[in-house]
Amino acid sequence: GDAVARLVADRVLDVPDFPQAGVVFKDLSPLFADGESFRGVIDGILEHYGRGSFDVVAGIEARGFVIAAALAYAAGVGVVPVRKAGKLPREVLSASYELEYGEAVLEVHADAFVANQRVLVVDDVLATGGTAEATLGLVERAGGTVVGFTVLLELAFLGGRKRLAGRPVHALLTV
Ligand code: PRP
Ligand code: HPA
Repeated sequence: GDAVARLVADRVLDVPDFPQAGVVFKDLSPLFADGESFRGVIDGILEHYGRGSFDVVAGIEARGFVIAAALAYAAGVGVVPVRKAGKLPREVLSASYELEYGEAVLEVHADAFVANQRVLVVDDVLATGGTAEATLGLVERAGGTVVGFTVLLELAFLGGRKRLAGRPVHALLTV
């Protein structure tokens, strides 16, 4: 609710022209660094979905990992890494995508999910949605069922939500 949104709002810093001119980067590192706030946002996500509503958490490199690991531990489920190209050691599925500030490739292990496993995808920020769209495709190609996409912060003016094909998106704070 409002109190959880405030935890995010109170500890996000606007950094102009990072990583390139014209982008105002939302830096959530002060939120991660504060124990009460970090616990508060993880508990807030868990409260939104409810226990037993997902079987595994997929975290998107790199800042998504921080949230995914804490959330998975709190929920008593496992965590699957969705990584930048070339990092995973075994057979992978790959998807290229565009970011607000560049282009990249994401990968997941081809055998990362049990068929129809309910997957909650986690990241820190939803911006253009390129990263999220690529991840949804990867998880589904790998046999998982995406039951939701959850972020701490949604930058609504970049329209990312529209790219997620009607999948439920939950943001603790939307700006
Ligand atoms: C950021 C952020 C999201 C993504 C959002 O990650 O953590 O993953 O961009 O942008 P989008 O909605 O426009 O795709 P980044 O690629 O900068 O990687 P990092 O976490 O490794 O710093
Ligand atoms: N902050 C963090 N991650 C991001 C941003 C941002 O402003 N834009 C795209 N990914």
